[in-house]
Amino acid sequence: MNTGTAETASAKEKLVVALDFESADDALRLYGELRRDAGMFKVGSQLFTKAGPELVRRLVGDGARVFLDLKFHDIPNTVANAAREAVRLGVALFNVHAAGGSEMMRRAAEATAEEASRLGLKRPSLIAVTVLTSMDEEALRETGVGAASVEEHVRRLARLAEAAGLDGVVASPHEIVPVREAVGRTGFLVVTPGVSPSAAAYEDQKRVTSPAEAVRRGADFIVVGRAILNSPDPAAAARAVVKEMENVRIS
Ligand code: C5P
Repeated sequence: MNTGTAETASAKEKLVVALDFESADDALRLYGELRRDAGMFKVGSQLFTKAGPELVRRLVGDGARVFLDLKFHDIPNTVANAAREAVRLGVALFNVHAAGGSEMMRRAAEATAEEASRLGLKRPSLIAVTVLTSMDEEALRETGVGAASVEEHVRRLARLAEAAGLDGVVASPHEIVPVREAVGRTGFLVVTPGVSPSAAAYEDQKRVTSPAEAVRRGADFIVVGRAILNSPDPAAAARAVVKEMENVRIS
């Protein structure tokens, strides 16, 4: 059992800032402001489609840890090849959709390890998206998923990801505990978006989750976008999130 307060460095390392911008210039400007105040920076499909791998290379070249959030979902051979490219870019973390199946995930994990070893690079962590946080039971049913609940399907896909050799999953604040229950492996990563830093003050009254509460429930990383990007002082907003997480007692 891990007790005590999280130390400064580890709380900072837990903060992943989503660079959800329309241009490389905006992303690099914000990165420049926040590089000392967050542990990782997420490049998602919009920014990647606009700015491409060159932006990722610039961030990595500057020493940034990058989460490449492209959620690969294709035939196993294609995803394995995309995973090799992610390794070559030097990202710290990237993801695939668990719905692509065991074989796809296993091949991606193997390709990641092989390519990192071939290039003498640190192997990036590979995680799975289980159920998109935007989907509810109705949306799952529409796609032919017969699970009794979103939570049941999340548990199932988290176990599948673990068995395929992945390092963890993306999970909403409500799914952290179910994932931890479903997957016993120590060190299985849980990356949690959909948190609201301003939630701390009224968490008890409303069904919203703050970064600190997500960490308390067992998240290894929390992803924050707009609450930091849209703040008048993004660096101060990032530091406030880190400070909040530093005070979490993990038991
Ligand atoms: O909401 P916010 O701007 O903090 O979102 C940051 C990132 O977290 C987005 O890039 C999105 O990929 C992810 N997100 C999510 N599920 C949510 C909210 C955000 O996956 N409910």
